[in-house]
Amino acid sequence: MTEPALDFVIAALEKMRESSDRAPRASRTVLVRLQTANPVAASLWEAHALPAGRRLQPGALNKGKLLEPIRERVRACTKCAHLACSRTQTVFGVGNPDADLMFIGEAPGVDEDKQGEPFVGRAGQLLTRILKAMNFAREDVYIANILKCRPDTPPGTFGNRAPTPTEMQTCRPYLVEQIEIIQPKILVALGAVAVEGLLGMRGTMRELRGRWHAYNGVPLMITYHPAYLLRNQAPSEKRKVWEDMLQVLERLEQPITERQRNYFL
Ligand code: URA
Ligand code: URA
Repeated sequence: MTEPALDFVIAALEKMRESSDRAPRASRTVLVRLQTANPVAASLWEAHALPAGRRLQPGALNKGKLLEPIRERVRACTKCAHLACSRTQTVFGVGNPDADLMFIGEAPGVDEDKQGEPFVGRAGQLLTRILKAMNFAREDVYIANILKCRPDTPPGTFGNRAPTPTEMQTCRPYLVEQIEIIQPKILVALGAVAVEGLLGMRGTMRELRGRWHAYNGVPLMITYHPAYLLRNQAPSEKRKVWEDMLQVLERLEQPITERQRNYFL
């Protein structure tokens, strides 16, 4: 395709994607071809499920490569003008694009905004410890947030603020694309704000956590945000998060040791 024609196709695809929750669909074969021709265009399509009995050649779909043009669009994004002005940088996501397990947080905080990586501050360090207890390194899973920019705070104030529903709606399509490419076996949403951003559903963590939900057919476990565990140091709350992670390990069919069963975060 000639360049202007491709630009036209890309603009049309972006419009379709933004006006609906689901990406336009293409067969895997078309997607792989498009990926070689133009990764940006390829990233805007969602692959059709393969017909039963046909398996995709390993490595045919390079997920890391498919994520790159989205990362670039996020880097240049100015949809929330106030956040584009205040951010140090965008925070796209980190980890293994082929991961079976994907964690979804709220938004970058001050540390993430500085380093350009999700969950690197105090809450992030706790998440990393939880992962370790699950026998995972950060590199084994994929970690992303609903918002790719740090919610701005008035100058001179301390701490982070929660993203607004409008900010989450605006940024959500990027996360949707990330999930579509990564196709994790299991999603974990960290805290009520992440749940609201992902599912558009408000609820208390008491009613939501500890059981299986679904996002677009992907099993979704909802658990407390690690920042909540830092504020509320009660062992009972930590144990709840660990119980939720044991359910995740079970569903992933990961072996669980006796030590892990009895573990308290
Ligand atoms: N809290 C989040 O929800 N996400 C981060 O990346 C860091 C802290
Ligand atoms: N309330 C929240 O909003 N999030 C948590 O993780 C726990 C309690």
